[in-house]
Amino acid sequence: MATRTQNRQSNSTTSNRGSSRSRQSENRSNRQSRSSSGESRSSESRSAFSWGENAGPLLGAALAGVAIGFAANYGRKAIMQGMEAAAGDWDEILAAEHDMALAIFDKMLATDETQTFKRKMLLMKLTHALDKHAHEEEMVVYPALREANQTTDADQLEGEHGYIKTYIYELNEMGPAGSNWLEKVREFRALVSRHAHMEEEEAFPTFKQALTEEQNARITSLVNRDGFWMA
Ligand SMILES: [Fe+2]
Ligand SMILES: [Fe+2]
Repeated sequence: MATRTQNRQSNSTTSNRGSSRSRQSENRSNRQSRSSSGESRSSESRSAFSWGENAGPLLGAALAGVAIGFAANYGRKAIMQGMEAAAGDWDEILAAEHDMALAIFDKMLATDETQTFKRKMLLMKLTHALDKHAHEEEMVVYPALREANQTTDADQLEGEHGYIKTYIYELNEMGPAGSNWLEKVREFRALVSRHAHMEEEEAFPTFKQALTEEQNARITSLVNRDGFWMA
């Protein structure tokens, strides 16, 4: 049975083939009408698909633009993640991210209902910060906790990440002018603060004290690498 991806590919091949067939017949009829009207051969060669003589430099500039964009994004990620990588071990990096998220919450709580643009921007910033943080924990730290027989902790923490996403969803649905926006943000902050406390004071120290120096360095490097791609 064909997979959805295979179906998608085969559909697009069919439609491409269809459109290229119709282009060919269009070109044929254009050629016929041009030759019947006595149009010269040189004008026929200047089709809409022809690159023309200035295409080389233009294409080069476009490719250079893509390369610069990629390098700039790579540089931005390196700077952002480099700042956090300097924070130390994996648990210190994650604790610094908790503090950063809680500071965004405090800015949100200092707004009033007229500051809808600021509220939107702060919620976007918070969403990005929590998304990156959750990815590092869910892809590296929680699996490592399960390997170290702390499955109950890992499952509870991962379940709480689901409720964190639920708050983000609800705030987006409510909109920044919602009458109970501040109340919702306050509840949300309390959940994140409790969750961070459980990680910093219970789950992570128990796990870390059983790690060798080498295992600790490995987890730090994996968290940094994951954070780099999510930055
Ligand atoms: Fe977490
Ligand atoms: Fe965390």
